[in-house]
Amino acid sequence: MNNIRILFVCLGNICRSPSSEAIFRHKVAGTDLENKLTIDSAGTGPWHVGKAPDIRAQTACLKRGYTEITALRARQLQPEDKDNFDYILIMDDRNYNDVQERFNGDLSKVRFFLEYAGDDAPKYVPDPYYKGEESFNYMLDLLEAAADGLLEHLNKEIYHA
Ligand code: 4NP
Repeated sequence: MNNIRILFVCLGNICRSPSSEAIFRHKVAGTDLENKLTIDSAGTGPWHVGKAPDIRAQTACLKRGYTEITALRARQLQPEDKDNFDYILIMDDRNYNDVQERFNGDLSKVRFFLEYAGDDAPKYVPDPYYKGEESFNYMLDLLEAAADGLLEHLNKEIYHA
């Protein structure tokens, strides 16, 4: 399949999902997959629309070389995103409930992102918003593992490798 569309979703679209987008964009850049994927992120909530990612997420991402983070701007998840994306990757159970509501119960394309992080990974990416720097680093550890697993999955899907 060409042009697989991937949407990362969290609550505010300023911490977890833009970090996921930045990490994934970084890992895909320069690979055979680069021109075969559409990558985006959104938040279920409206509060931060138009804003840059949280400065703590930016700092944590930049420390690891994910410079893609700085250009991102928050947007809110829309009902039509259900049709416009193939993979809708959420972070926690609150996202699950909110997306279910926004998509009128159709969760056929929705997965927990950490399903791609391996059997030992937790199910949810904890919301770091009200926590400290350590939570942002832990968030990145989880997201990097999931991004690697997703890349592997997509390579198999596209190249039947
Ligand atoms: P995110 O984190 O969902 O990972 O972007 C949050 C950002 C903002 C809020 C909650 C979570 N907030 O309540 O404003």
